[in-house]
Amino acid sequence: MTDLSARDHAAGSVTLLPVNGLPEFRPGDDLAGAIASAAPWLRDGDVVVVTSKVMSKVEGRLVAVPTDPDERDSVRREWVRAEAVRVVAQVGRTLITENKLGIVQAASGIDASNVNGDEIALLPVDPDGSAAALRSALRGLLGVDVAVVVTDTMGRAWRVGQTDAAIGAAGLTVLHRYAGSVDRQGNALVVTEVAVADEIAAAADLVKGKLGAVPVAVVRGLAPVDDGSTARDLARPVEEDLFRLGTAESIAQGRREAVLLRRSVRAFTAEPVDAEAIRHAAGVALTAPAPHHTQPVRFVHVRAMRKALIDAMRAQWEEDLLGDGMSAQAVARRVARGDFLRDAPEIVVPFLVRAGAHAYPDERRSRAERTMFTIAGGAAVQGFLVALAAEGLGSCWVSSTMFCPDVVRSALELPSSWEPLGAVAVGRPVERLEPRTPRGSGEGFLVR
Ligand SMILES: Cc1cc2nc3c(=O)[nH]c(=O)nc-3n(C[C@H](O)[C@H](O)[C@H](O)COP(=O)(O)O)c2cc1C
Repeated sequence: MTDLSARDHAAGSVTLLPVNGLPEFRPGDDLAGAIASAAPWLRDGDVVVVTSKVMSKVEGRLVAVPTDPDERDSVRREWVRAEAVRVVAQVGRTLITENKLGIVQAASGIDASNVNGDEIALLPVDPDGSAAALRSALRGLLGVDVAVVVTDTMGRAWRVGQTDAAIGAAGLTVLHRYAGSVDRQGNALVVTEVAVADEIAAAADLVKGKLGAVPVAVVRGLAPVDDGSTARDLARPVEEDLFRLGTAESIAQGRREAVLLRRSVRAFTAEPVDAEAIRHAAGVALTAPAPHHTQPVRFVHVRAMRKALIDAMRAQWEEDLLGDGMSAQAVARRVARGDFLRDAPEIVVPFLVRAGAHAYPDERRSRAERTMFTIAGGAAVQGFLVALAAEGLGSCWVSSTMFCPDVVRSALELPSSWEPLGAVAVGRPVERLEPRTPRGSGEGFLVR
């Protein structure tokens, strides 16, 4: 590898040097001047590691807050939201956010430690810029070529406890990519990328501590190589993040989007459909509401009998069209277009069985009873389509079997009480299912 980062240059030992004697910083203070006075011993190749809190202070990123704990908390929460571009998760009262720097951490990095009781500290606006400015100021003051890392303390998914990480960097290679290297045992290192700047941040914290007295430390012995990279390069782009939402938030989003994922899919890939997924979706659908605690819906996954069914339905359709007065050629053309159910990867025919319906002596109530069962059938079929969509399967509910119920029953050898509710074509969609936007309620929703 030609790109040798600090890590591989560190043939020997690395030393951690606290910068003692720094003052308490306030907005407008000269941080570089203070570091140069407190650490005149800085050398070329040192990495100066600065707690972001002091950057925030000298850059005036302090916000006045009420001293009353409740009011202070509520103002702090407003700032957490203001600094966030996205809420990733909520853990108790703590928001984990992605902030404007692309960093995912608790409370947008806003912190009330090591500041006065009536203040909170926001992160520096541009920590990479702050690091570069400090680097060049130290070069001006002491004539040394140092790298600078700006740190913040962060929790880690999967690990208890916090460590310091780099949120700003200048003058070093923040990420050492081992891709292309081979270890001593001859194994190719394909995915190993070491976040050198984060390691430096965490190491420096061993001598800085969290009690505020030592906000700056120096890591010596790494001989950093400036490849122009910055701490921003360590923020994983959201689209590459497998864990871009908290677990509870992912589940909530999935639930919200489940119904919106369904659409009529009429183009399927040749990929086979798992029969178990269809059976499972039917099981989900059979939990749909139904009158009088009945279970009036049946799903028939039509497999061996598919050709017989489609041929019989086609014959009936031709007969219907000829009966309408259509010419034989026109009928042939029309019927040829209707091979959707023949070609779909799988088909399922839902049926309604009105067992358990109440009998009434008058037509008004009898009709209402019939409607109740019919709409329960619709509810179950919609549930089926939604459950399929949740499994990544596309579907299209078509009406055809309703127009020839006798033919369907006879072809599938089912009892005369079974009423077909159309048919559902099922397959892997050619176009990935994406949740749709809910319709503006418009005339579809009224409040009286
Ligand atoms: C009872 C019923 C029968 C349907 N019959 C057909 C059909 O015969 N052919 C078809 O292509 N789509 C059919 N559809 C699907 C509708 O055309 C489709 O739901 C509508 O265009 C809205 O599109 P969407 O499902 O993508 O939201 C039917 C839908 C329902 C509810």
